[in-house]
Amino acid sequence: MIHTLAIAGYRSIRNLVLPLERLTVVTGRNGTGKSSFYKALRLLADVAQGNVISSLAAEGGLPSTLWAGPEQISRSVREGLHPVQGTVRKDRVALKLGFASDDYGYAIDLGLPIPSASMFGRDPEIKAEAVWAGEALSRRNAFATRSGPAVTVLDEQGGRSTLPNLLAPFDSMMTHAADPRGLPELLLLRERMRAWRFYDHFRTDADAPARAARPGTRTTALGADGADLAAALETIREIGDPKGLAQAVDDAFTGAELRIEESGGRFELLMQQHGLLRPLKAAELSDGTLRYLLLLAALMTPRPPGLMVFNEPETSLHADLLPPLARLIGEASKTCQIVVVTHDAMLADALREAGALRHDFTKSFGETVVEAADRPAWAWPER
Ligand SMILES: Nc1ncnc2c1ncn2[C@@H]1O[C@H](COP(=O)(O)OP(=O)(O)OP(=O)(O)O)[C@@H](O)[C@H]1O
Ligand SMILES: [Mg+2]
Repeated sequence: MIHTLAIAGYRSIRNLVLPLERLTVVTGRNGTGKSSFYKALRLLADVAQGNVISSLAAEGGLPSTLWAGPEQISRSVREGLHPVQGTVRKDRVALKLGFASDDYGYAIDLGLPIPSASMFGRDPEIKAEAVWAGEALSRRNAFATRSGPAVTVLDEQGGRSTLPNLLAPFDSMMTHAADPRGLPELLLLRERMRAWRFYDHFRTDADAPARAARPGTRTTALGADGADLAAALETIREIGDPKGLAQAVDDAFTGAELRIEESGGRFELLMQQHGLLRPLKAAELSDGTLRYLLLLAALMTPRPPGLMVFNEPETSLHADLLPPLARLIGEASKTCQIVVVTHDAMLADALREAGALRHDFTKSFGETVVEAADRPAWAWPER
């Protein structure tokens, strides 16, 4: 389980170290930084996929994603005695992301490139990284650190050796130094991060991928676009928890039942609803019903990953569906760590009742701050 998440210099998040539980809900008004938090988590996952630099570029590059406020907000500014002003930077420009879990922790520090003749002169560079064992990074518990191109690893005798020119500025230690013989921990951590699943705004319009019949194969993880909904539900029935699925459908839509039909290898979802003479096809379901079934398929996965993150799952759901959704998420969090980002206070309350740790985001001088949250111990790797 991930118990600490740290983000610095990313959009409205100047410096945030947050505790996470098995189930955590992040909520707050518009513009307080919830989406920034969600995107930061995705960027962290992108590191393990080897595409953090291109994801950052797609967001407008470092200049746009970096915290646009001053490095420090002084007391006199907070008390209204002085206006916000830029000051001479003490630290270098940096976007930093990291997490600590029960066994290992990882952090990355991205910065501006050293000016060169390259056409890729806007690409951010990976300046520092670290993987450690235990709570927070320290000199004693780090077993691989990266500073620029150099990687220092713990060797078998407990000493440290440095490989001076191992990495290009656009390669992460995670993808380019995770050799199964040399650094098995890095490989383990990378594979875990690659398994994280993100669900963000399933499409439910008339042409939504989830509405069409599709070739079905065993699907233990619903795809991010929900195209394999029927196959994922059938997989839950065959190798997952068919009883739980039927109960969860009934909990949300009293008297309703799901059916999957197969014809020529194509799978189609049907839903028999109370009071109707024929079942409705996925193409005929309401947006909210379809979205709920998508969430159901994602949450009841027969092979839960280490972490699932849901961004605004309540979109187009009626208030009546929020308590069953919260129950479903609460149940799923017994086998998989879950983070939910929502601006819906009712869903946040219902999740809290289901046992979630709740973080309320607010904004102070343009900066995302979290009310009444403990700040776990944290240290960033040095450049
Ligand atoms: N580089 C930046 N530096 C500082 N603030 C930024 C930067 N980029 C965006 N912001 C601001 O960060 C704030 C948080 O945006 P975000 O999209 O995370 O909010 P949100 O909580 O998801 O809001 P909503 O509920 O409306 O979706 C916005 O007010 C945005 O203008
Ligand atoms: Mg948002």
